[in-house]
Amino acid sequence: MMQNIKLGILASHYGSNLQAILDACDLGEIQAEVSVVISNNSNSMALKRSNKKNIPGFHISNHTHPNFLLQDKEIKKILKKHKVNLVILAGYMKKLGPEVLKYFHKKIINIHPSLLPKYGGKGMYGANVHREVIKSNEKFTGISIHIVEEEYDSGPIIAQIKISIDKNDNVDSLNKKVSSIEHKFYVKTIQEIISGKINLNNL
Ligand code: GRF
Repeated sequence: MMQNIKLGILASHYGSNLQAILDACDLGEIQAEVSVVISNNSNSMALKRSNKKNIPGFHISNHTHPNFLLQDKEIKKILKKHKVNLVILAGYMKKLGPEVLKYFHKKIINIHPSLLPKYGGKGMYGANVHREVIKSNEKFTGISIHIVEEEYDSGPIIAQIKISIDKNDNVDSLNKKVSSIEHKFYVKTIQEIISGKINLNNL
């Protein structure tokens, strides 16, 4: 069991996964607290959600720090200041820099709406993923939670869920199917990491 876990969440847009995690912390389904939220988008719902709960929220982007490496340093500084020991990407659309990746080695996780390594990488997010999956006549899609490394959607897989695709599924229906499962799956997996059932260092 990891003790006194503080989560730092990075999210770019809507933040429904962030909300699910916040709610799960309140309910004790995740035995941790969210100590900080960072977004590259000053108008994101994600920052509104953290604000509503009085959780410190920061906007770090090309607008605040034109240099990527300075963004990287700032993100690391904020996460350290808020004593974060597990970093959660929840719809964060940017790559992380070397300082954050090094300092939080094997302590950063992401969720992706496909069965990685299939349908991951640059440009593969949201509806783009489901469109490619449908185009390729896949019988299954799914959700992957993985350790974050330098490249988009790379790094060891922590957990996956398989979802079957029906003949009449389209991008929209697939999106709905996947999102409806995603939140619970992320919450469950995060708690399994915290409880020690999953050990990221062994992956
Ligand atoms: C989710 O589909 C997640 O799999 C992907 O980005 C999306 C974020 O949605 N990484 P939200 O902002 O949490 O609503």
